Amino acid sequence: MSLLLSVGLFISAFLATTWYIYQHYHRKHKNYPPGPIPWPFLGNVLQVDGKHIYISFMEWSKTYGKIMSVKLGFHRALVINDPKMSREMFGDLTFSGRPQAYFVTVLSGGCNGILVSEGNVWEAQRRFTLRHLRDFGFGKNIMQDLIMDNAQEVITWMRQEAGHPLPDLQRRLSLAVLNSLWTIISGQRYSQNDPHLKALLDSIQEGAIAITRHPFLIVAPWIRHILPTISGYTKFQKVVDKMIGFFRDTIEEHKQSMVDGEPRDFIDSYLKEMKRTRDRTSSFYKDAGEQNLRAVVGDLFQAGSETTAITLTWSILFLMTHQDAQRKLQKEIDHVIGQSRSPVLKDRLKMPYTEAVILEVSRMASVIPLGVFHSALVDTYFHDFYIPKGTWIWTNQYAIHMDPHVWGDPENFHPERFLSKDGKTVLRTHESWMPFSTGKRQCPGESLARDSLFLFITSIFQKFTAVPEPNSPIPDILDSDDAFFRGPKPFSVIMKERVILSSPIIITVGE
Ligand code: HEM
Repeated sequence: MSLLLSVGLFISAFLATTWYIYQHYHRKHKNYPPGPIPWPFLGNVLQVDGKHIYISFMEWSKTYGKIMSVKLGFHRALVINDPKMSREMFGDLTFSGRPQAYFVTVLSGGCNGILVSEGNVWEAQRRFTLRHLRDFGFGKNIMQDLIMDNAQEVITWMRQEAGHPLPDLQRRLSLAVLNSLWTIISGQRYSQNDPHLKALLDSIQEGAIAITRHPFLIVAPWIRHILPTISGYTKFQKVVDKMIGFFRDTIEEHKQSMVDGEPRDFIDSYLKEMKRTRDRTSSFYKDAGEQNLRAVVGDLFQAGSETTAITLTWSILFLMTHQDAQRKLQKEIDHVIGQSRSPVLKDRLKMPYTEAVILEVSRMASVIPLGVFHSALVDTYFHDFYIPKGTWIWTNQYAIHMDPHVWGDPENFHPERFLSKDGKTVLRTHESWMPFSTGKRQCPGESLARDSLFLFITSIFQKFTAVPEPNSPIPDILDSDDAFFRGPKPFSVIMKERVILSSPIIITVGE
């Protein structure tokens, strides 16, 4: 028996190695992009910096070039380190797929929704969502009011805590951003202290942490069947089930209370579309429609809330550690908005320095350092390189944002780099600025995110000055704590309320 087992194991190992070598040379022959030599079965997993994988890729690109290959377990992946190539590739539908792997599609229940779907489902769901979100606020005054309501709640909280280090700043900002999104999608308005809202945020964050702490679920998802607890599967699946349950209950409530012909919010509009869909192959038809609706709602939360909130947290850290930039920002706020009214989006046109701060924060933060991976939909060639169908593709946004050949001093926080020489005009398009990615799948929430950043930052710094807590260390702003997204290291900030003596003279209490 044991002899039989040994022979079996030997033959399997022999076949796997032969297949591996064949694949390796076959690709090399066809001019597959170069990269570090992968280990059998594990690929390059043991060679990367587990905490900052994008930094390992950035280092390797110095040897392997603008387009390089890596292997994660059995998965082939390419890393693009050049903005021109990324724009060219992601502008081509051939590269608009998403890896259909377990950890990617688990929340969506398969190839559903926008974020992880591809082909016809992706096109139809993305188009519908963008059109109908516009009806309920995207790009309209109603959205501005919603964001401002939540910014005001943050300001009230900061006022209560004024003079003391802010407890758990990022969480409060996440609740504020999530709340605006939730209102557009579901019509429900919560307070930022509401237990429902907090529970939803906890699930989103726990899911992100579970997947980052257990990378084997990414590179070797089959492990969940053998070691469900150690691999992190049991915990991850529990969080996923909780989130799906939350979305299912909300959709169910909408079905019960919806009045025909009068959609109150995005979910009602979607249910209406499902009702009128007769085509059985449509992704809006009956069960498929319901699964897609759950997936879209999940996508908007996953993609929209933490990204914006973490960028806001970075903004406070950068401005706290760069008092000169903070003073210039406040000067512009005082000049254009003053102290007696709230900011509105129209102010942006007259506030180039504030815009430059947002561009610079987004560059240095690179909250999604490798973007969201795409995949090749067919076997193809790109710049003479052979790219097999199903290859995962990342753009190393972090490497592009930190390229010294482009930025000169990328490690310095310097908003002026986005301004004309006289400081009056903001240089809006920079080829190497791509926190929202580019091409066919470019982030559809970019304008909402940028509106939110503008309104939150101007509202907060109109009223407060951010200073470090004297007894706490200031973190290295080039380092980060990564849990799926690239976030700042913990820091302690005190928001000092600004006091207005008479019109142009403003001082900060305690200065
Ligand atoms: C600072 C905030 C944000 C950043 C940095 C960001 C960045 C990104 C990036 C890099 C992608 C991947 C694009 C690609 O696959 O090439 C993406 C996709 C996406 N984002 Fe955002 N995003 C932000 C905010 C938002 C918001 C507020 C929403 C909506 C409420 C949103 C919704 C989406 C969706 C639905 C996708 C998937 C698009 C697709 O697959 O076609 N994002 N985002």
